[in-house]
Amino acid sequence: MGERKRIPCVAGNWKMHNTVAESTALVKELLPELEGISSVKSILCPPFTALNSVAKLIRESTIHLGAQNLYWEGQGAFTGEISPQMVAELAEYVIIGHSERRAYFGDTDDVVNKKVQAAISAGLQPILCVGETLEENESGRTGEVVKRQISVGLMDLSKEQMRGLMIAYEPVWAIGTGKAATPEGANQVILDFIRKEIAHFASEEISEMIPVLYGGSVKPDNAKDFFDQLDIDGALVGGASLKAEAFVQITKAAA
Ligand code: PGA
Repeated sequence: MGERKRIPCVAGNWKMHNTVAESTALVKELLPELEGISSVKSILCPPFTALNSVAKLIRESTIHLGAQNLYWEGQGAFTGEISPQMVAELAEYVIIGHSERRAYFGDTDDVVNKKVQAAISAGLQPILCVGETLEENESGRTGEVVKRQISVGLMDLSKEQMRGLMIAYEPVWAIGTGKAATPEGANQVILDFIRKEIAHFASEEISEMIPVLYGGSVKPDNAKDFFDQLDIDGALVGGASLKAEAFVQITKAAA
């Protein structure tokens, strides 16, 4: 078996769950456990309203903070939106292009690209999500879709800017369904379409250094099988990140 080249990372995408009070309670449960797992990078992505409270709680810890979205403009008359600078005041990471944003909020590949560029300019590290729908998968278009999401999503980025990226491969049919991809299948998509595409328009070296996470129904009982795959560097966890014990178990599996 080959050697793991990148630091494992487990990110929790809380989606539209947890009030400030609930977020605070969850972080207090997670903190002492995650602190002990120093070989894995833990990233918590609470809703915007809880970023500040969570930031304060984890300030002295090894845990990192991410947001779930941003708007690409710096400031202005954009009622209800959050700028990259506002996010960067509190968080280090930002999830961009999650399939729920693509499906419900009009985040096209071009929008995703604007957000990725804006995030990087503000000093944030984007976690770019890509993945095919069930229909795209069944019609044999996974490669085409994922390659397009990568190449348009990362358009006009310099090689230097790409170094700070993280990618999450999240097949849409596996998200929140309890029907995860097979670890081998996910690893193959990452190798054949994600790393190859990045190598193609950046470099082999950059493609090898970017962490690629798998997301979609990752649970304590299947996490290790994904982390055993050499090109899967961790997980973006939705549902199971809302329970301290499950998230800790997944993180332990990555260690
Ligand atoms: P899930 O969500 O773990 O609940 O399937 C993953 C995600 O949407 O990031």
